[in-house]
Amino acid sequence: MPVTDFSLAGKVAIVTGGSRGIGRSIAIGLAEAGADVALAARKPEALAEAAGAVEATGRRALAVPTNVRRLDELRGLVERTQNELGRVDILVNNAGTNPVYGPIQDVDEGAFDLVMNTNVRAVHSLSNFAREAMLAHGEGGSIVNVSSVGGYLASDVIGAYSVSKAALIMLTQVQAKTWGSDGIRVNCIAPGLIKTEFARALWDDERTLEAATRDSALHRIGEPDEMAGAVVYLASRAASFVTGQTLVLDGGRRL
Ligand SMILES: NC(=O)c1ccc[n+]([C@@H]2O[C@H](COP(=O)([O-])OP(=O)(O)OC[C@H]3O[C@@H](n4cnc5c(N)ncnc54)[C@H](OP(=O)(O)O)[C@@H]3O)[C@@H](O)[C@H]2O)c1
Repeated sequence: MPVTDFSLAGKVAIVTGGSRGIGRSIAIGLAEAGADVALAARKPEALAEAAGAVEATGRRALAVPTNVRRLDELRGLVERTQNELGRVDILVNNAGTNPVYGPIQDVDEGAFDLVMNTNVRAVHSLSNFAREAMLAHGEGGSIVNVSSVGGYLASDVIGAYSVSKAALIMLTQVQAKTWGSDGIRVNCIAPGLIKTEFARALWDDERTLEAATRDSALHRIGEPDEMAGAVVYLASRAASFVTGQTLVLDGGRRL
């Protein structure tokens, strides 16, 4: 056995929000490392395109239209992955949302629930289903949650999102502590500003882009493909003694 083993050959991964942006890059990265990948998101067309990109690496892909806010669809995602790809070894909880912009007192109950149900509750539920699938084959597994630097920095304009991403950092620690004895490691990444549709309002705004560029050690914002390597590492045997951790991928913005 090599001292450093980043291979995911023979593994099966699920990536939520795998149809575009960071999740699409992560799905391709996991496939490049040898995993077959089930991709979940709501819109089937983008999902099919991303599944094609995974298959282009030579690995199997399964596109499963899923709204992560629906419990039955999360259960179905794990079941279809088991039935059609054979097992579940890796789960990347990447789907996330932020429908509101403004001070926290203006976030109504519906919007608050939407953010928390998508960014936190869905991760809780899907991780529970994936854990059952990992226990079924008895070889353990690895879960990677996608938080944000917003989980560390209080925002006065996307406050509910900050609250949800902070919760995800602690959910990661709680899952890791509880499931270590199951052979399941749980870690988290916290991206900074990354050039995706989700963050367009930020990087499209000259002043925000200028501040993000000036304040980061690398003097630029990130690309979605730059998130995948950390997830491959955390999912692989190379990270076999790492659990409960959050890796900040922000080009040194918080230094
Ligand atoms: N971009 C950044 O600067 C940044 C920074 C820090 C953290 N993040 C986090 O990174 C993750 C990915 O963000 P991104 O920038 O790649 O966003 P994106 O390009 O908008 O992609 C979001 C993905 O999530 C899916 N999705 C959204 N709501 C969903 C739902 N209810 N059920 C199932 N899938 C859903 C989307 O597909 P459908 O719309 O078809 O469902 C899409 O595949 C999020 O958790 C985000 O909070 C992003």
